[in-house]
Amino acid sequence: MSEDFEVILHTKSYLPDPEYKAQSHLGDYHNAYQEFLKNPEGFWDRMAREIEWMKPWDKVLEWDYPYARWFSGGTLNITTSCLDRHIKAGRRNKLALIWRGEDGEERVYTYRQLHRDVMRFANALKRLGVKKGDRICFYMPLVPEHIIALLACARIGAVHSIVYAGFGAEALHARIRDAEAKVVITADVGKRRGKVISLRSIVDDAIRNTPSVEKVIVLCREKCSVELYSEMEEDFYSLLDGVETDCPPEEMDAEDPLFILYTSGTTGMPKGIVHTCGGYATGVHYTARYIFDLKENDVLWCTADTGWITGHSYIVYGPLSAGATVVITETTPDWPDPGIWWSIIEELGVTIFYTAPTAIRMFMRVGEEWPNKYNLDSLRIIGSVGEPLNPEAFEWYYRVIGKNRIPVLDTWWQTETGMHMITTPLGEPMKPGFAGLPVPGIEVDVVDKDGNSMPPGQGGLLVIKKPWPSMMRTVYRNDERYRKYWNQIRNYYTAGDLAVKDNDGYIMILGRSDDIIIVAGHNLGTAEVESALVEHEAVAEAAVIGVPDEIKGQAVKAFVILVKGYEPSQKLVSELTYHVRMSIGPIAMPASIEFVDSLPRTRSGKIMRRILKAKEMNMDLGDTSTLEE
Ligand code: WT7
Repeated sequence: MSEDFEVILHTKSYLPDPEYKAQSHLGDYHNAYQEFLKNPEGFWDRMAREIEWMKPWDKVLEWDYPYARWFSGGTLNITTSCLDRHIKAGRRNKLALIWRGEDGEERVYTYRQLHRDVMRFANALKRLGVKKGDRICFYMPLVPEHIIALLACARIGAVHSIVYAGFGAEALHARIRDAEAKVVITADVGKRRGKVISLRSIVDDAIRNTPSVEKVIVLCREKCSVELYSEMEEDFYSLLDGVETDCPPEEMDAEDPLFILYTSGTTGMPKGIVHTCGGYATGVHYTARYIFDLKENDVLWCTADTGWITGHSYIVYGPLSAGATVVITETTPDWPDPGIWWSIIEELGVTIFYTAPTAIRMFMRVGEEWPNKYNLDSLRIIGSVGEPLNPEAFEWYYRVIGKNRIPVLDTWWQTETGMHMITTPLGEPMKPGFAGLPVPGIEVDVVDKDGNSMPPGQGGLLVIKKPWPSMMRTVYRNDERYRKYWNQIRNYYTAGDLAVKDNDGYIMILGRSDDIIIVAGHNLGTAEVESALVEHEAVAEAAVIGVPDEIKGQAVKAFVILVKGYEPSQKLVSELTYHVRMSIGPIAMPASIEFVDSLPRTRSGKIMRRILKAKEMNMDLGDTSTLEE
């Protein structure tokens, strides 16, 4: 298969100003990495001491393959690291959050205000009967109340499960059911490109036949009367009437769950990735401070949504733990025009900007005159995440936004890893096309399917060789799926990506090795899209593949066999596209649908998407010995 191939490596590299390294928290990367290797547990012990604990741990790591317990015996509440300690440390009047709406509306929260509002909402949740361990599902736009309610869950030990508010009712339903959420928190509407999108009606659809749900909390942004719908609903702000302001943090065991986050799997049902309190808090604080190098005056803008792990780790928990100022916004990159994001950077003085290759490629296409209209001098680090940052996009980002002097941090990681795993640490040479080197604390390699290390230039599978604190602990209610991550290649964690190293150990990510399609940085399982298609009465069978897309990286292409009696038509194409949009969401919409009479299969009946893909792209079909016909 594709594990064994040669890759021609670019050799270009850019050297950042030595001041970056000299001033950084990490210092010299190679020294830091050697320190870690000498004493891995000592390294993580030091990092864990940088957050707040109620009771110290007895042991840094207990590794009972494939189960890890980090900082066992220790207790903490992540919100004290994100809020309380900054109040004590003189940051009480520092801005924690700056929110910018589409129409230019702005709201700001100091650390003191955020702390107070989190505690009040935490008390409101308690009054509703929410207890430690209960699952709370979020389906919210990116507004301050979302962050407040999220931290309030963490404050009382409730487990949050955020569902991206661009997902459709069916996707939301499946996630509510799997997590057995007791409460759903939503808003009446989200705002996007000048349009008002009803979220509450989607929630309404999604909570049919979800017996676990007792309450739906609705944040009313427009004029809405919550009672109109049902007795289950509560108004976000009315819940705060008469609650106390003080809410002591729940004492959590280091290994208690902090949240569940669903990510697409290669089978139909998305996987509920479970992260725990102590290790996750340590990992995101460590990377916020030592990889993003967050300092007292930094203003961080991570353009992700909270519905993805990027938002959890680098909008909420990491930067707040490091005491930075965080920018959040509901804006899209090209509305009302493609200058909007650059104008926000100029106006708010953003110092660290973190976005996705798909956005960078969109900006490339519309032209550099847009960013050039604005003064971007406040920037000191620009980052990328979600899919490979191709060399052309790197060059553009570095030249146009980075002015040939600001380090580009391409960061490779996953929902499952919780924190940055591979990047080009500040001060190290940057190589276009390469994510970079493992962060100190992490041992990665590129191997063949037996786990043997591949020589430089030879492609292989990306693995992580040892446990790390912010690793996922299980897949919610599917521990077998969790074990699969660790039992495919020796005792290593298999990431599911193809990669290649160069002579300096730099890692280039080549894409997924499994049936995951990454559209504009969003993970989609082929099975998920296929089952949505098959739900339609006209569809007998469907297979989907990812095809290259200039802006989105990949786009969905669907092959469909129709039920007898249905004829291919443009109308049916639109209908099927709409159907996928409504059940999973706009990101899953096929860019093209082809009607076929049969699909390539193995003798055991499995659809061979690899063959469809090779045909589509006019490539060699590869090994077809298992093909049926
Ligand atoms: C998959 C994980 C981590 C937050 C966003 C995605 C791909 C992620 C990079 C990168 C190349 C990347 C991988 C990975 N990916 N970052 N810098 N270069 N590929 O989280 O939804 O869990 O997806 O995204 O294929 O396995 P996720």
